[in-house]
Amino acid sequence: MKAHSSVQMWFDDKRVEVDSAKTILANLLDAGIPVPYGCGNGLCCACMLQAEGTLPQEGQDSLTPSEKASGKVLICKAYPPTQGELRLSLPGQSTVLEGCITEKTLLPGGVIRLSLQPTSHFTWEAGQFVTLFRPDGVGRAYSIASVMADGVLTFHIRHRLQGQFSDWLKIQGRLGETVRLSTPQGHFVLSDTNIGKPHVFIATGTGIGAVMAVVRTLLAQDPNAAISVYWAMGEVEHFYPLPELILLLAKYRQLRFIPVVRRGVNPSVDFSKILLPLPLSTPAQKSRLEDIRTGEVESVLRSDFSSLSGHCVYLCGSPTMVEQLSRLSFMRGVAKADIYSDAFLKA
Ligand SMILES: Cc1cc2nc3c(=O)[nH]c(=O)nc-3n(C[C@H](O)[C@H](O)[C@H](O)COP(=O)(O)OP(=O)(O)OC[C@H]3O[C@@H](n4cnc5c(N)ncnc54)[C@H](O)[C@@H]3O)c2cc1C
Ligand code: FES
Repeated sequence: MKAHSSVQMWFDDKRVEVDSAKTILANLLDAGIPVPYGCGNGLCCACMLQAEGTLPQEGQDSLTPSEKASGKVLICKAYPPTQGELRLSLPGQSTVLEGCITEKTLLPGGVIRLSLQPTSHFTWEAGQFVTLFRPDGVGRAYSIASVMADGVLTFHIRHRLQGQFSDWLKIQGRLGETVRLSTPQGHFVLSDTNIGKPHVFIATGTGIGAVMAVVRTLLAQDPNAAISVYWAMGEVEHFYPLPELILLLAKYRQLRFIPVVRRGVNPSVDFSKILLPLPLSTPAQKSRLEDIRTGEVESVLRSDFSSLSGHCVYLCGSPTMVEQLSRLSFMRGVAKADIYSDAFLKA
């Protein structure tokens, strides 16, 4: 039975019947209003609306001070207020950005590398994510795999069968098409106060995109930074080329890059060729990649580091990995403030 309320809620000039037991997002969808949304969990910011009136506190908890001050709310986490009036609308142009598709490359392992040329100037920090929207408003969060100096926003997007966004992108997204995106979000970024500390990065799957962006930024600031990058996949065939890696391996001798495969190595697959397609790879660069490790990335990390005290740890990708390795990092001596993570939660 519906839990009715006396509160008045409006979307633009349409009055919405309020069921106080449901989130604002559910109320708007029930009323047939096609608002954008993604994770449904307060993480991706796809559902951010402009609000006036009695603002629901829980819809603002994870927002920046300026977003809070300007009346933004995440409607997937927020319930209608118990009294008063709430007026909602899509955020103005200042928070809705666009990019033009300049690259859509299908990589091995079912990953799409997508590049967008921003149509207006805005800034992002390496490691942040944005929500990308289909023309009909369906939005999903994706980590930015490029740095500002690249001039484009690049993403590594795993194609999911019947995935609402990734399937649309694979089949219908065309070069030259304009894609709407949210403002960059997230705290998976470099902290200046940690320059000089050893850094450990662990990515599963497409999480490597954001990791490489942060690694590039760190090395640009501190060319001698001690860095270990672990990239874990279920199967060896799921790895895909990382053109930026070859440049980093050639330039920074101290950079450790450790691929980890959960289900064992297939001897017929030349791993270094997957990661660094010829003619770019040289024997010296290949030799630094051939030490592929097998098993769970957590076990590999346990055996490599008896202590992580004084390190910064960055975790990006599967929510299970992020949870397990946050715990392990803390147990091995990393300060909580020095553990940065982005979990790719399902919408
Ligand atoms: C902060 C953040 C950053 C993210 N960054 C990236 C990124 O850089 N690259 C990237 O590829 N994804 C990333 N994701 C995940 C992304 O937002 C989508 O969830 C994913 O692309 C699936 O969306 P879809 O519309 O294609 O599939 P959906 O229509 O949402 O789902 C289609 C089917 O695939 C299944 N599915 C969806 N996601 C997963 C999953 N992770 N594991 C197993 N099954 C799944 C669903 O259960 C469903 O059956 C990120 C998520 C968050 C929250
Ligand atoms: S934050 Fe609301 S849908 Fe992702």
